[in-house]
Amino acid sequence: MTDAYDFSDRIERVAPSATLAISNLAAEKEAEGADIVDLSVGEPDFDTPDNIVEAGKEALDAGHTGYTSSNGIPPLKEAIAEKLRGTGVDADADEVIVTPGGKQALYETFQTLIDEGDEVVLLDPAWVSYEAMTKLAGGDLSRVDLAPHGFQLEPALDELTETVSDDTELLVVNSPSNPTGAVFSEAALEGVRDLAVDHDISVISDEIYERIVYDAEHVSLASLDGMSDRTITVNGFSKAYSMTGWRLGYIHAKGDFVGEAGKLHSHSVSCAVNFVQHAGVEALSNTDESVEEMRQAFAKRRDLLVDLFDEHGVDVDVGDGAFYMMIPVDDSEVQGTSDASGDEPRADDQAWCEAAIEEASVACVPGSAFNAPGYARISYAASAERLREAVDRLVANDLL
Ligand SMILES: Cc1ncc(COP(=O)(O)O)c(C=O)c1O
Repeated sequence: MTDAYDFSDRIERVAPSATLAISNLAAEKEAEGADIVDLSVGEPDFDTPDNIVEAGKEALDAGHTGYTSSNGIPPLKEAIAEKLRGTGVDADADEVIVTPGGKQALYETFQTLIDEGDEVVLLDPAWVSYEAMTKLAGGDLSRVDLAPHGFQLEPALDELTETVSDDTELLVVNSPSNPTGAVFSEAALEGVRDLAVDHDISVISDEIYERIVYDAEHVSLASLDGMSDRTITVNGFSKAYSMTGWRLGYIHAKGDFVGEAGKLHSHSVSCAVNFVQHAGVEALSNTDESVEEMRQAFAKRRDLLVDLFDEHGVDVDVGDGAFYMMIPVDDSEVQGTSDASGDEPRADDQAWCEAAIEEASVACVPGSAFNAPGYARISYAASAERLREAVDRLVANDLL
């Protein structure tokens, strides 16, 4: 049967999200009755804090069910601006767009800044959707590999200097990082600043994991001298407040940015969900205690995993934030196999992740999805018991 649709070049340039593909596979296997330890998900395993849920219910009861003004309700935009000012960013409520999730905020940012052929620089390993969003906007990618530098940016600044030029349109910085957990030092961010100013580059600072940091301090890029007017700060409620399904995030940028991105926002999503925005005000205002409890729980799990890997001789570059760890799997016994077409041998990390789910019933994401072949990403948004179980199973199946 021939396909009746003539798909756009734009959509054919991208592949489905690799992380969602793995968690869908894990969910399918669970539905068939398998006991999968799913360490593929980028989702806190905590309930949304009660006060936020109550605020959402109250907003529904109060009839906050219609459209809101496109860029968001004033109290939420004001609370976001206040939060940003708290991290040293010069922010005003009318410089904010409230979006249905950080992903939409990023999508709107790429679409607003990138023309066909524009250069976008990513720091690898990079979260899966940056590449897809660049391609959807027609941009060309240049990449700097942080893997040889323990996933840190500071030791890779020389390489970044060689990569960016006056032709670069956009640089994407994500600290704390998904998938590595790395938190970039202030010196590294100052290095970014110097390059951005020298070459007149805009920078996305994706700060969605800013509340989940351990032995480091999060620095907002827009707070650095010279960065206020060229940073687009993207953030969201999914990770800090365990609100993944509520879909709430935001963009902050100075100047004309909000006016221009707001056109796309109003012609696509219209606005973020009304009662969810009210819950967002509560999240920003009264949830510090729950956020801290979750942060401490993640810290304990990270330390537990590091100890378990250490026991089995697996050396990991431990990040200071988010809830991810990249483990090296290129020395494993698992050999790459041919793909379905029989042409290309698969990267070892893909074979390793396949073996992990098929033989050990543990779901992880291949590093290749983040342009980091040879690694697998483990999410430790799971209980200590399940993390122990995962490591035991991987060991029992000779995968560690
Ligand atoms: C680095 C990063 N940015 C943005 C997002 C988007 O999150 P959401 O759309 O749930 O706010 C994610 C989600 O996994 C992420 O890991």
